[in-house]
This record gives sequence, C-alpha cells and structure tokens, in this order.
Amino acid sequence: MHLGLIHHVGYVVADLDAGIPVYRDVLGMPVGAREVMPDQGVEAVMLGAGPSYVELITPVSDDSGVARFLAKKGPGMHHVAFAVPHLESALQELSEEGVELIDTAPRRGLGGHMVAFLHPRSTAGVLTELVEQH
Ligand code: CO
Repeated sequence: MHLGLIHHVGYVVADLDAGIPVYRDVLGMPVGAREVMPDQGVEAVMLGAGPSYVELITPVSDDSGVARFLAKKGPGMHHVAFAVPHLESALQELSEEGVELIDTAPRRGLGGHMVAFLHPRSTAGVLTELVEQH
C-alpha cells in the first residue's frame, strides 16, 4: 500500500456560494471543478492550485449523509482525501487487511476523479477518501 499526498480536505458548508469567496479572494485559491453529484445528494467545488486542495460540499437533498452531518454537527471538516496510484488495488489490499470500506469499488467523484471512501470506524474516526491520481 502506497498512500500518496493529501489530495484534498473536504469541508461541509451550508451554502457553496457563501463559502467560496474567503478561499478565492482572501486566501487566493483558484476555483476548480464544480458540480452537482445527484447520487451523493451533494454539490461540491474544488479550490486551490494543488497539489493539495480544499473541497467545499453542500447538501442538495435532505436525506444525504452530508445533510445529516450538517444538521448534527454544523459546518466544518468532513473528510480527508489521500492520493493513491491504483485505487482498485488499494481497495483490494485494504479489504484484505480488514479495513471497512464504504465504497467497495471506485466511483466517479468531483471533476471526474475515481474515488472511494473508507469507513471512519476503521480510520481513527476520520472519514477518509482515496483518490486515484496518475
Ligand atoms: Co472529497
């Protein structure tokens, strides 16, 4: 298993457009991919020039995990994403090591990256995402 650099940190916000200006205008982070992901019930935007980014996420449906997170905890840090060279083999290896996977197979994430989430029960209470990066 070769975990790479932190690819991004995900923050949940109540309103994407209200959340963007401080990062874009004050902290000078370019605005990258932005899209609604209906299967996740969220809209997200990637900010930054890399190699590490900030991902702002907001719920677009009341029954999404992110909506529950926001209702329960309020806005704030939601997950940390690490780059891996080969996501499918990383998931296979982690599964064999007994790590609890939320996504047993890669799925499409923001900006077309292939991603998968690990359950926080297996990762010291922090929701962890893997992003395939070549
Ligand atoms: Co993410």
